[in-house]
Amino acid sequence: MSKEDKYTIEKITYLKKWTDHLFSFRITRNEAFKFIPGQFARLGVVGLNNELVWRPYSIVSADYDEELEFYSIIVPDGEFTQRLKDLNVGDSIYVDKTNYGLLTTDRFENGNNLWLLSTGTGLAPFISILYDFSVWEQYEKIILVHCARTKDELVYQELINGFYTHEYYCDLVKDKLIYVKLLTRENQGADLYGRITDLIANKKLEDFLNISITVENSRVMICGNPQMVDDTRKILAERGLTISRRSKPGNMAVENYW
Ligand SMILES: Cc1cc2nc3c(=O)[nH]c(=O)nc-3n(C[C@H](O)[C@H](O)[C@H](O)COP(=O)(O)OP(=O)(O)OC[C@H]3O[C@@H](n4cnc5c(N)ncnc54)[C@H](O)[C@@H]3O)c2cc1C
Ligand SMILES: NC(=O)c1ccc[n+]([C@@H]2O[C@H](COP(=O)([O-])OP(=O)(O)OC[C@H]3O[C@@H](n4cnc5c(N)ncnc54)[C@H](OP(=O)(O)O)[C@@H]3O)[C@@H](O)[C@H]2O)c1
Repeated sequence: MSKEDKYTIEKITYLKKWTDHLFSFRITRNEAFKFIPGQFARLGVVGLNNELVWRPYSIVSADYDEELEFYSIIVPDGEFTQRLKDLNVGDSIYVDKTNYGLLTTDRFENGNNLWLLSTGTGLAPFISILYDFSVWEQYEKIILVHCARTKDELVYQELINGFYTHEYYCDLVKDKLIYVKLLTRENQGADLYGRITDLIANKKLEDFLNISITVENSRVMICGNPQMVDDTRKILAERGLTISRRSKPGNMAVENYW
């Protein structure tokens, strides 16, 4: 197989700047590109020496969308994002033809409540999951937790709140979606203040919602900062939750971003 058989070349169609170091973008979607909500694509940009630089990016879009949306940080000196940030609408971006990732709800069996715990850009795959009609049929509650430093980094609020009034989703979502915003470096603009890890360890998150995370009821997906992912997984493991595997279904699925 030649290199060209492994990827398609797509075009940027839309850019949205959230802050100096956070933005979203959409690209054309090759009709053969399929994914399961929660998965990531591998994106390529032309690097300094004309070679392609590839990075994994969670897909924000619904699986039925015509385009693919992504939500990105800009890392100072980051090989990929320092190229990506300079691209404009109409510019090319490379997309690996394969879809990747195990942060998908099909890893779980049963369960009443689906917890989606994210920091920073780790919110991205959970938006795609919210667009998945089957999760709304499957779960009684879906609790989306997004933790950021400052309130301008609590992005996609309008889109998430829009599910409550959305023509096709509102009836499914209205008694089920619980959206919790957390901030760690500002004390206005959130539902709770503090890190996900601390608020789970001290039970403040569950007390606030009056819902407990239990082995029987809960399925938990965790995405973003690797230390947060690791520590949250360990705190929940002490309560008996286990990582879900194909051979042995459990209660947690995780994804580290770096
Ligand atoms: C499965 C998977 C999915 C990912 N999805 C996304 C996504 O949807 N959006 C996104 O912005 N990034 C995502 N990433 C991270 C992304 O692949 C790159 O690391 C990121 O674009 C930075 O690339 P870079 O070359 O500029 O810097 P890199 O050399 O890749 O990273 C340099 C450093 O920047 C920091 N860093 C990297 N990514 C992030 C981040 N997302 N948030 C905070 N700090 C970071 C880390 O300290 C890292 O060591 C994902 C990573 C994985 C493994
Ligand atoms: N203006 C700027 O240039 C600017 C602004 C923001 C970020 N950055 C840089 O960008 C990088 C990524 O920033 P980010 O905010 O997207 O991602 P991040 O550092 O992963 O932080 C996102 C959220 O996760 C929390 N968090 C971090 N580590 C955690 C842990 N071990 N356990 C539980 N929660 C944890 C943070 O809380 P805490 O606040 O308590 O860490 C924050 O609320 C950082 O290296 C940062 O220096 C730059």
